[in-house]
Order: sequence, then C-alpha cells, then structure tokens
Amino acid sequence: MTNHPPVKILLVEAIHEVAKEKLESEGFQVTLLSHSPDESELIKLSKEFQVLGIRSKTNLTEYFLKLNNHLLAIGTFCIGTNQVDLEKSNHLGIPVFNAPYSNTRSVAELVISEIIALSRQLGDRNSGAHKGEWIKSAVGSREVRGKTLGIIGYGHIGSQLSVLAESLGLRVIFFDVVKKLPLGNAIAMSTIEDVLSQADFVSLHVPETAQTKDMIGERELTLMKPSSYLINASRGTVVVIDALVAKLKEKHIAGAAIDVFPLEPASNKEKFQSPLQGMSNVILTPHIGGSTEEAQYNIGVEVAISLSQYIKNGSTTGAVNFPNVDLPVHKGCRRILNVHKNEPGVLGEINNIVSKNGANILGQYLATDASIGYMVMDLEKAEATRVATEIEKLNRSIKTRIVI
Ligand code: NAI
Repeated sequence: MTNHPPVKILLVEAIHEVAKEKLESEGFQVTLLSHSPDESELIKLSKEFQVLGIRSKTNLTEYFLKLNNHLLAIGTFCIGTNQVDLEKSNHLGIPVFNAPYSNTRSVAELVISEIIALSRQLGDRNSGAHKGEWIKSAVGSREVRGKTLGIIGYGHIGSQLSVLAESLGLRVIFFDVVKKLPLGNAIAMSTIEDVLSQADFVSLHVPETAQTKDMIGERELTLMKPSSYLINASRGTVVVIDALVAKLKEKHIAGAAIDVFPLEPASNKEKFQSPLQGMSNVILTPHIGGSTEEAQYNIGVEVAISLSQYIKNGSTTGAVNFPNVDLPVHKGCRRILNVHKNEPGVLGEINNIVSKNGANILGQYLATDASIGYMVMDLEKAEATRVATEIEKLNRSIKTRIVI
C-alpha cells in the first residue's frame, strides 16, 4: 500500500518545465530528464519513482510494465498513447493520462492561415520571390470573405475552426457522423457529398479509423468544386495522395495544404518524400498542426493536473485505459482507492471487511470496465488503515492505497 507524500515523479523527453513546476507546487518530488531513456536505462531509473511522465518516443512495453507494477500512474505528455501498452497497464491498475485537446486551437489557427495562403497562392509567391521571381498578378487570387468553408469532422478542432472562420466572413458548412450542435451560423449538412460539392475550401478533421481510411479519394475529389482547395491536418490515411496529385495536375483542385501523410519520417533526421512535392499551390508542412509553444505548455499543465488529481484525490477523469471517476474532494476522512479484478463477489468481500471492522462508510464510488473495477471509499480516519490493509490482501485486489 502506498501512502503519500512524497510521491516521486520522473519526467523524461524534455517535457515542458511547467509540468515540473505544477507537480512540485503540489508537493511531489520531480526529476526532469531531457532525453528519452531506452528500455534498460528506464528500467534502472524507474524503480525509485512512483509516477512516470513520457512523450511519444519512450515505449512502455508489457515487459517494462510487468517489472514496474509498483507505478501509480503514467502521464503521456502528448496526444497519442500508442507508445504505452494500455491493456497491460490497465490489468496492473495503472491509469494512463494524456492531453488530447491541448493543441486544438493551434491546429485551427494553422488551418485559418492556410485558407488565406491558398487563396492568395502565398506559398508559390513566397518561394518565387526568394528565387528572384517577381510575379505581381491578381489572377486566381481571391479574398476569403463570403467563400464557403466545408468542415468534415465537427469535433474539437472542426468546431473551433468554424468559429474562427466565421470571424473572417467565411460561410461554414459541415458534416459529422454524429449529430453536432452547429456553432454560430454554421450549417450541418446531411451528407459528406453536400459539403464536398458546395465548399470552396474543404478541411478534414476526422480521427483515424477504419471508416476514415481513404475517405477522400478520386470520387470525392471529383465532387469538389472546380478551383476549390483541400486542407488535411487530421491524419495521413484519410486522403488518397495519388488521387489528389491527379486532380491537382488536371487543375480540378486549385491547391492543397497537407500537414499529415500516409508515411511520415520517424524523426527530423529522416528525409521526407511525397508525390506532392514541387506541385504548384501546394503547401506541405511536417505534421506541425499542433506543434506550438502554447500547446506544449497546455499539455504540461493538463497532464500534471490529471496526475496530481489522481495521486491526491483518486480522480481518473480523462484516463485512457481506466474506468473514469470524477471524485469530490474528501475532507475529514481517509480515502481508500482499490483496483481489483472485475469478477463477481469482490465488492461483497470488500463490504464484509468494512462491516467486520465496524467502519462507517462516508462515501463510496465504483466504476468498472471489462477487466478491472475501481472502487473508492471514504472512511472515518480511525478505521481506514486497518480496512485498507485487509482489502489489499484480497486475492483479487490489484492495487490498494490510501490518500490522506
Ligand atoms: P475529435 O474527436 O474532437 O473530433 C473528430 C470528429 O470527427 C468527431 O466529431 C467525430 O464524430 C467526427 N467523425 C468521426 N468519423 C467521421 C466520419 N467518418 N465522417 C465525418 N465525421 C467523422 O478530434 P479532434 O481533436 O478534433 O481531432 C481531429 C483530428 O485532428 C484527429 O485525426 C487528430 O488526430 C488530428 N490532429 C492533428 C494534429 C496535427 O498536428 N496535425 C494535432 C491534433 C489533432
């Protein structure tokens, strides 16, 4: 059973300093490393820490997690969580927290800049001027005011973009598979085809799923208005690049801004190659939609708060692999947190322990998923330690601790 403080937290991969500051201000002991340790180094390091904070380069495998089942929680200070074996960490009772929406605004702002840049052929004018070309011409350059932006995927980014675009005088239409409240004057369309055929700019903001794979191919690009533009800052698998190249060559599409690709270099040292390179009025960016100082800062704050709330209060809101429980602050009592196998009878065993000890339950919360149950119980201080020790000994208990 683990009591706190001081909980020791290891942050690697140069996570934004603000995370360290936030966690230290909560009384935790934080070590921040600038590199991504390989598995053997991390195994040596992690023994003395109860919480790990990583970004996308550090892999936490089943092997690593088995050796480190003492961990209380893991923070992925980024959007993705593929680098962690989420199933294993769930089975071991280790919640994983990330920051999925900290860079929403950054992506929406990039897209706004691209809408104007495509409309004014800024990419080509800029590279031409750098090479000594002077192409002063209004042909094909247009204001964006009054044009129609079609958003496919009206989630966090799509809806944020919708608000920003209207402030520039764009008319916004959108399509989403889920019924969404249109913000401002935006109009929901019943089909993706409606959006493709009416929009001057089509911007994609869907997740990577089996349904969105190759979602924009030859048929969809043909449906787009002649001289319209395609923007993709969602995921590289959503657009069939060869089809886009063909439509650009035919001049059916007047330009594109692409931030994500089916194949992306694994690091800044690798060379980037795409059939879109060298095409006119095509803006290519290296998956930087969400890469801003502000987003990094926000990620640092968001994940640090999630970790701190879990350690101090037991709340698992936002954990990607764990039953979510948003808990009230506990005052004047002790809180027992117990992760157990989700099998019939465990709660009965726990409640037997409570009644055998004559303990008074002041609050009890339970959330489950297919394999684990997460039970939180507020008890009078006098009985809490005794009860928690007995709960911890249950065969089907995975992790038990008391927060003060
Ligand atoms: P979100 O989950 O808030 O919104 C996605 C929306 O797409 C949801 O409303 C969903 O109902 C809708 N959707 C799902 N399948 C659909 C389909 N087949 N057709 C139409 N709509 C569909 O996600 P969020 O945060 O807005 O992110 C959107 C995309 O942006 C994701 O792919 C994410 O990975 C990507 N992204 C890219 C970044 C970059 O650096 N370029 C940074 C951050 C996110």
